[in-house]
Amino acid sequence: METTLRDKHVLLAVTGSIAAYKSVLILRRLVEAGARVTVVMTSSARQFITPLTFQVLSRRPVYTSLFDPSDEIRHLTLAEQVDLILIAPATANIIGKIANGIADDLLTTLVTASRAPMVMAPAMDGDMWNYPVLQRNLSVLDGLGVQIVPPEEGPLASGKEGVGRLASEERILSAVLSRLSRRCDLIGETVLITAGPTREPIDPVRYLTNRSSGKMGYALARAARWRGARVILVSGPTSLAGPANVERVLVQTAEEMRDAVRRYFPETTLLIMAAAVADYRPRFRADQKLKKDTSTLFLELEPTPDILSDLGPERGSRIVAGFAAETEDVLNRARAKLEQKGLDLIVANDVTQEGAGFDLDTNIVTLMDAHGTTTALPKLSKAEVAERILDEIVKLKARSRTDDRIIR
Ligand code: PMT
Repeated sequence: METTLRDKHVLLAVTGSIAAYKSVLILRRLVEAGARVTVVMTSSARQFITPLTFQVLSRRPVYTSLFDPSDEIRHLTLAEQVDLILIAPATANIIGKIANGIADDLLTTLVTASRAPMVMAPAMDGDMWNYPVLQRNLSVLDGLGVQIVPPEEGPLASGKEGVGRLASEERILSAVLSRLSRRCDLIGETVLITAGPTREPIDPVRYLTNRSSGKMGYALARAARWRGARVILVSGPTSLAGPANVERVLVQTAEEMRDAVRRYFPETTLLIMAAAVADYRPRFRADQKLKKDTSTLFLELEPTPDILSDLGPERGSRIVAGFAAETEDVLNRARAKLEQKGLDLIVANDVTQEGAGFDLDTNIVTLMDAHGTTTALPKLSKAEVAERILDEIVKLKARSRTDDRIIR
């Protein structure tokens, strides 16, 4: 039996979804892992499953109301006592309420009062999952440091197929574990991360860009912050909210990104370039909007500065990691970029694979280091990919310290 959550007090919040029955299995896994689990249910959750089931399995009272007669102020005592709040399943309604600070029942008031880390596993119909307001609310929560375990694709209660099924117990448990046993292995480091696309202006209203959403770089920034680093996030244009406690520097063009990286580089101990920087920009930027006529328009392009290659000898002993977004001969091209740009690690990203690359919540990557080690990862959420990249970087740092000692 696992006992990895011994001495941890987890608050399992169950909300009104057909997936509520799966919370019973999650509760069992948490208890098996050694956690003390207190269950809180919303009134809609009780339409799907009874408190008694959770009470028997957790061997603890189940709380359902803000107004239970008791000596304690329930929402405040629970808020203080727990080490982590897990909301599984999380409905669109609870996500909307928490993202907007609404506190009108036991769960939402205790969330407002608690400073414990929070993990949320949404479950809902595919159309609800794709609703832009829900996605905006998730992005607000993400920016506040809530760890979202995205739902999976498959048959839904409506009879349709789509994204919306509660994530597997494995994935939810692993998010809880990683959040609670968070390694503080980047304390003392200043991590500079680039994210998102760049925009290269053609005229005052048009630009060249790419499909990067910034999600990969933002996931890295959040993960590095959780591990104790000071994080500077140099971000191209994106709709994502800045992660909590991360210094965000907004830029538009490759040149502005280069300048920001150079400005912060002297105080940086670790650089990760996840941004999709434009390789070319228009040689001339028109002062006025280009007028349409019947003739063909030729744009003359020139290379942008290569931010990574330009760091040259200034990089000293810092660990520098880059990404390679490729559509063919992925590993060879990534290895070539690792060597050309003098990197310690490259994250090879075959963006033709389903579930990998631009503007998705998942990614499929292969990590390749300068010592010749190659590690292929399965499809994971970008938050999980970020953790694996940081694990690799921590190993490379430890190795470079050992190598230094041997040379001396
Ligand atoms: O933002 P998302 O929607 O989450 O998508 C994530 C992602 C696909 C953008 C990300 O996973 C990724 O692969 N990022 C790198 C994309 C890219 O531009 O790769 P590249 O092969 O063109 O560049 C190689 C490396 O050189 C990158 O680290 C890049 O940041 C860097 N570079 C590129 C051009 C340039 N002028 N200067 C650079 O330093």
